[in-house]
Amino acid sequence: MVQVTPFLLVLFLALGAHGISAKKCNLTGRWVNDLGSNMTIMTVNAHGVFGGSYHTAVTATSNEIKVSPLQGALQKSPNQKGQPTFGFTVNWSFSDSITVFTGQCFVDDDGKEVLKTMWLLRSRVENIKNDWKATRVGINVFTRLQLQE
Ligand code: BTN
Repeated sequence: MVQVTPFLLVLFLALGAHGISAKKCNLTGRWVNDLGSNMTIMTVNAHGVFGGSYHTAVTATSNEIKVSPLQGALQKSPNQKGQPTFGFTVNWSFSDSITVFTGQCFVDDDGKEVLKTMWLLRSRVENIKNDWKATRVGINVFTRLQLQE
């Protein structure tokens, strides 16, 4: 018992310290994804609602790419434990399309924030017969854009 007590104390302190220092994932800021697209998320309000802008690196159209607005919501339930789920919509300013993203903000093993997302891109088609080919699906992984010195 004499040896067990210090061991339990160390274990308790280690677990406690981990719980206190566990890094939380914060959506606010500038992000880049695996396609090279950039997005900026502005302040997330008390209800989890946020806005921002999206500069896509690619397009399914032949239009000139322009920075487009996004609006989204972060899940605020206490059960999210620092790695919250979220969703946002990008209303493309240079095409007739809309993209919805859904994902989760993770802190990886190196303490780096990563947004794992899936998206649906809805393009406008001329008639209902073409509806079958109007929606694309994919995944994007975002990491925080590091500021250059
Ligand atoms: C369009 O082509 O009509 C609008 C631009 C769509 C860009 C898509 S959205 C999903 C994927 N992820 C990106 O960062 N860009 C593409």
